[in-house]
Amino acid sequence: MIAVALVALVGCSKQSSDKAEQPSGGSTAAAPAAEKKLVVGFSQVGAESAWRTAETKSIQGEAAKRGVDLKFADAQGKQAQQIQALTSFIAQKVDAIVLAPVVETGWDAVLQQAKDANIPVILVDRGVKVSDDSLYTTLIASDFVEEGRMAAEWLAKKTNAKANIYELQGTTGSAPAIDRKKGFEEILAKNPDMKIVKSQSGDFTRAKGKEVMEAFIKSDGKNIQAVYAHNDDMALGAIQALEEAGMNPGKDVIVISVDAVKAAFEAMVAGKLNATVECNPLMGPLVFDTIDRVRKGEKLPKFIQNKDQLFEQANAAQVIGTREY
Ligand code: AHR
Repeated sequence: MIAVALVALVGCSKQSSDKAEQPSGGSTAAAPAAEKKLVVGFSQVGAESAWRTAETKSIQGEAAKRGVDLKFADAQGKQAQQIQALTSFIAQKVDAIVLAPVVETGWDAVLQQAKDANIPVILVDRGVKVSDDSLYTTLIASDFVEEGRMAAEWLAKKTNAKANIYELQGTTGSAPAIDRKKGFEEILAKNPDMKIVKSQSGDFTRAKGKEVMEAFIKSDGKNIQAVYAHNDDMALGAIQALEEAGMNPGKDVIVISVDAVKAAFEAMVAGKLNATVECNPLMGPLVFDTIDRVRKGEKLPKFIQNKDQLFEQANAAQVIGTREY
């Protein structure tokens, strides 16, 4: 009887210890839960300019540093591709979306889908026009209107407020093209002898900037006193067109642009570009700090502004070595 009772007791205790081991998968100590990687979808406009490439590198580099799983989609300048990318990020249930929107309008439906899925959308560098601004979390960007004002004020000083200006606009419908024109024209309204004679889009590319400038030279030749380009790449294309036509950019024709990329500094040092207004593309650290803040539940302002400054030939040589993009 004693032997039977002992066997029953051992059997019982064996059963209960088997049960206790099950949840930890065979070990008595609980393993720490593996930390889940943050997954972020980044829909980029394309690679139209040196500025854009610097922005992409900054965001990708920072993601790698922080161990973020960044899903990158290059839209090649097409809004339809950006909408497709966003739809796919939403289906993949990413933790956040970073969007650099090619144009301002046409985002309501896809941003509503992101909102319904509780995915925060951080806009970078360009804003959108939507019916309800709760459709995005915040915009991290420069003040493009102010950049336009800075360019016109500098040009007014340089030309004694008297100039025939030829304007190379950025991508039609994009925030920087709309706002850089708006800010520039605000200052021109106070200076009646400064006139935009012709204005056309060069789509933010060097090749298009050159092509449009060639057409301006063909029709207006010697009338061109100043060129205002919405970015450095177009200005560099225009400089090439002016030189090929035997003109002297930086001297006979004043050239001012926006971005402050390395090649613009080289052109200023060479005396061919007169000035450039900075637009900072190095937003990687700020983008991921912002995503962290959103995930902690912080309420963010709708606009987080990058501060810019103007550089001209006189300080270009001194500053060029310190430029990061
Ligand atoms: O949105 C920023 C603008 O887009 C930059 O000034 C231009 O170079 C770019 O392509």
